[in-house]
Amino acid sequence: MRKIAIVGPGRVGESTAQILAKESLCRELVLVGVDDGVARGIALDVQESAPLFGFDTKVSGGADPTLLAGADLVIMTAGLPRKPGMSRDQLRDANLAVSRAVVANVLRHAPNAMLLMVSNPVDVLTYDAYKQTGWPRERVFGLSGVLDSARMASFVAQASGYSVRDITALVIGGHGDAMVPLPDYTCINGIPIKHFLDAATIARLIEHTRQGGAEILALKQTSSAYDSPAAAIAVMVEAIIRDRKRILPCVAVLAGEYGQCDIALGVPVVLGESGVEKVLELPLTGDESTALIRSAETVRASLTGVF
Ligand code: 2OP
Repeated sequence: MRKIAIVGPGRVGESTAQILAKESLCRELVLVGVDDGVARGIALDVQESAPLFGFDTKVSGGADPTLLAGADLVIMTAGLPRKPGMSRDQLRDANLAVSRAVVANVLRHAPNAMLLMVSNPVDVLTYDAYKQTGWPRERVFGLSGVLDSARMASFVAQASGYSVRDITALVIGGHGDAMVPLPDYTCINGIPIKHFLDAATIARLIEHTRQGGAEILALKQTSSAYDSPAAAIAVMVEAIIRDRKRILPCVAVLAGEYGQCDIALGVPVVLGESGVEKVLELPLTGDESTALIRSAETVRASLTGVF
């Protein structure tokens, strides 16, 4: 994969650009934004860190959508961020309009790309982009569970005192208050966390995970999270670019998995050079299935009136 485009060089887009360049995940990185000067200025700023980080990625930017030409992967971070107290769903109509304009440009200038959707409500925007492009579901996916699972793993590390290096967490479902953290699939070096943490602590960190994004927004007031989302995006990009075949929770279009169709939802997928190469159906307990169905219902409610 030679060229990656980030559309929407706000804080998430800018942080993502710095990580992708620093890790030399592509030969060419373009930042496309509504303000030509801002996009070019951010690109210059990232480019000028090259000698310090030792990357040879060519970074450019601007408002001209033809900058998308030849992109292998387009990361969609454009749109409004939440304000304190807002739900991600409240951004739907405004960000749908932004997303559809971006996807129209992608179809025109980068018809062979993959789309990694980040803007919220990401489950809705991912499904809408899938419908708008008409592409196979492998090529249209979103950021949710990698970020939410990282938050959960961080909270497990804080509660247990053990290294994040040994902690893997799993969060599926919609990227919202009804997301489904799965403690039975959350382990410390393969040992489920219930062997280390009591039920009350697990329940607390599950709720903390659900509110992780809102907590940061409430503290910062003028911005939602961007460092951890950017790091999560980079994990997904690295899995694709290096064809890692990683099992990661991502927003994927479902075709009957988990009993769901005509929706995009956070589920474990195999992420490799073709994008979402497989959707994995986990064995879930009754409670876990009920929670996932409820989460899907909230996403489906947010899809009402979109098409
Ligand atoms: C978050 O959870 C922005 O949705 C993103 O921080």
